[in-house]
Amino acid sequence: MKRSFIIFFTFMVTLLLMLGTTFAEEGEVCIKCHRAVTPLLVKDWQSSEHSNNDVNCSVCHGSKHKSKKTAHLAKMPTEATCAECHEEQFDQFVKGKHNFGWTSLNALPVTHMEPDELMEGGKGCGGCHNMGIKSEAQKKELREKGYTYRTNSCDECHTRHTFSKKEAQDPRACQICHMGFDHPQWEMYESSKHGERYAMKEMGRLPKDASAPTCQFCHLPNGTHTNKTAWGFLAVRLPLPKDKQWAEDRTTILKALGVLDPKGKPTARLDIVKAADLARLTEEAWKTEREKMVKRCKKCHSEKYARGELEKGDQMIKKADRLMAEAINIVADLYKDGILKKPGHYTYAYPDFLHFYQTGGSHIEQVLFKMYMKHRMRTYQGVFHANPDYAYWYGWAPMTKALDKIREMAEDLRFKAKVQQVRR
Ligand code: HEC
Ligand code: HEC
Ligand code: HEC
Ligand code: HEC
Ligand code: HEC
Ligand code: HEC
Ligand code: HEC
Ligand code: HEC
Repeated sequence: MKRSFIIFFTFMVTLLLMLGTTFAEEGEVCIKCHRAVTPLLVKDWQSSEHSNNDVNCSVCHGSKHKSKKTAHLAKMPTEATCAECHEEQFDQFVKGKHNFGWTSLNALPVTHMEPDELMEGGKGCGGCHNMGIKSEAQKKELREKGYTYRTNSCDECHTRHTFSKKEAQDPRACQICHMGFDHPQWEMYESSKHGERYAMKEMGRLPKDASAPTCQFCHLPNGTHTNKTAWGFLAVRLPLPKDKQWAEDRTTILKALGVLDPKGKPTARLDIVKAADLARLTEEAWKTEREKMVKRCKKCHSEKYARGELEKGDQMIKKADRLMAEAINIVADLYKDGILKKPGHYTYAYPDFLHFYQTGGSHIEQVLFKMYMKHRMRTYQGVFHANPDYAYWYGWAPMTKALDKIREMAEDLRFKAKVQQVRR
């Protein structure tokens, strides 16, 4: 009894030691060769917490590839690989909006009309929308098209192979994607008082303890990986507001998003909106996010101040929606009166924002699209991010100009149609 136990014990210890050595040795094999193949990548890894904790190459990439000829056997780690050791962060990420990046991109009609390089290849829309766990079907489609990288979202904020926490805590880690045409949050933040103070603090011109909120402070509170806002990107939500005009205007916008048909009946796109959480669909869902945000502001401002500032954002959405709906209706009437013809790729003879720049094909629709995607966005995003210039000069002012232009172009189009009719 005792003897057999000792034999068993010795056997187990030897086995564990052997396994341990193999594991470490395997790591050593990779590193030794990769010091020559990709020297600075290895240095990167060596400076990481992973290196300090023996999380070596083969832990993430497997050990099937051990020679120059077998590189194709190296496994590319998905989020599930990271979850093996970072379950908490993985679980938080799954519940947030970032987990929907790939799904929402693929749900849009425009995605399937654009070059693959810019989508699956990650050189355009797909570059930022790599965020989110891909389903087996999505991964299969990628592989079949020859796209074997971009299997991981976790390296978007703490880039490989340093995988640093400090990097992800810096607002510049968000800049990569939250910039530019339709969501210039970085530019707005950087030139707001909040961003200015952050920069001054970094340079040591403000004391170390000076308060300066980062994107992460407001949007990933207490180090969580779950992100979501009340209004979201599109700034439409349910239920419809009590204000009659605003309810009508939002309905018009929902029609142009193709969520409602021109008669106001829900379409299949509403299911996409639900599945990818594109908008908050109940009052409670909206309020939950709003209250979370107020709690953040309250760390530095009075509650009254914070609520007042956020309500100004809500009001600007309402005012922007008035201009937007008027513009949409002008273009929709051109379809109704047969002055604009329904493009082949449209379901309805009605403006369709979700075809992006493939929209309509007529200049008037391009102006309308830009008014929605660029200027309406900036109007409220600028207010929410405390940036007066974005809210006015890059937001509201160009919206009013776009509406003027649309009115003028519609008149011209109607006049031309009349002349043509007389000629016939
Ligand atoms: C004898 C040298 C050698 C050894 C040992 C080695 N590699 Fe490689 N590895 C290479 C070469 C060469 C490439 C191809 C580089 C290129 O495409 O420029 C490569 C590529 C890779 C790639 C990228 C594959 C791709 O599709 O881009 C990964 C990941 C990788 N190795 C991980 C590992 C891991 C993990 C180990 C240990 C289990 C390991 N390597 C051991 C030489 C080696
Ligand atoms: C903590 C996990 C992890 C460890 C440890 C790790 N990698 Fe990676 N590696 C990744 C991820 C994530 C990617 C990106 C996968 C993708 O794009 O699909 C990647 C991609 C790569 C690539 C291909 C992309 C490129 O930039 O060239 C190579 C080569 C590579 N790793 C080599 C190594 C080597 C060598 C080691 C050890 C020194 C190592 N990795 C350790 C997670 C890891
Ligand atoms: C085998 C376990 C293991 C795997 C797999 C793993 N990690 Fe880690 N990771 C660790 C350990 C251990 C640490 C250091 C202790 C800690 O911070 O939890 C760490 C630390 C980190 C940190 C904090 C670094 C810092 O600067 O403090 C980040 C970020 C991180 N890992 C991201 C990732 C990502 C992304 C992946 C997948 C590509 C991954 N890890 C895969 C074990 C792992
Ligand atoms: C520079 C990075 C980047 C590029 C390029 C990009 N996006 Fe986005 N996209 C984002 C970010 C960031 C958000 C979230 C913005 C926000 O909430 O204000 C977003 C939001 C979206 C949403 C809405 C998601 C939601 O839940 O509200 C859709 C749909 C979308 N993008 C589709 C596209 C399509 C289609 C393209 C290409 C024509 C594209 N994106 C190009 C970064 C990008
Ligand atoms: C949107 C950016 C972003 C993405 C994507 C992201 N992280 Fe993070 N991560 C952060 C931030 C910010 C922190 C620092 C949190 C804090 O201040 O405590 C962090 C911290 C971490 C840490 C260190 C935790 C600690 O307290 O030491 C780990 C581990 C980690 N992330 C893993 C992951 C994994 C796994 C994924 C993918 C499922 C992931 N992260 C995706 C932004 C991100
Ligand atoms: C690799 C690109 C990328 C990076 C880096 C990135 N994001 Fe995002 N972010 C996105 C995309 C894409 C979406 C839209 C996801 C969707 O389709 O639902 C998004 C959505 C969001 C939203 C949700 C808006 C809403 O609809 O409610 C917030 C908040 C956000 N990001 C904050 C951050 C912060 C803070 C950081 C930096 C710590 C960051 N993001 C880094 C791409 C990125
Ligand atoms: C002081 C807090 C604060 C900071 C700092 C901040 N945001 Fe925001 N952000 C907000 C508020 C408030 C909203 C609107 C919330 C709502 O819908 O009610 C918002 C909304 C967003 C949205 C959804 C679309 C929009 O713009 O309305 C995204 C995406 C976003 N922020 C990303 C970022 C990024 C990236 C940074 C850093 C470059 C950043 N935010 C900095 C408070 C902040
Ligand atoms: C970490 C602290 C901190 C947090 C959190 C914070 N702020 Fe601030 N905020 C400041 C400081 C400091 C200033 C600069 C004070 C001044 O105007 O002199 C400022 C300035 C502002 C300004 C600019 C006022 C002006 O005169 O231009 C607005 C608006 C604002 N904050 C709104 C908000 C809102 C809304 C939230 C929550 C979404 C918020 N802040 C969260 C610290 C913070």
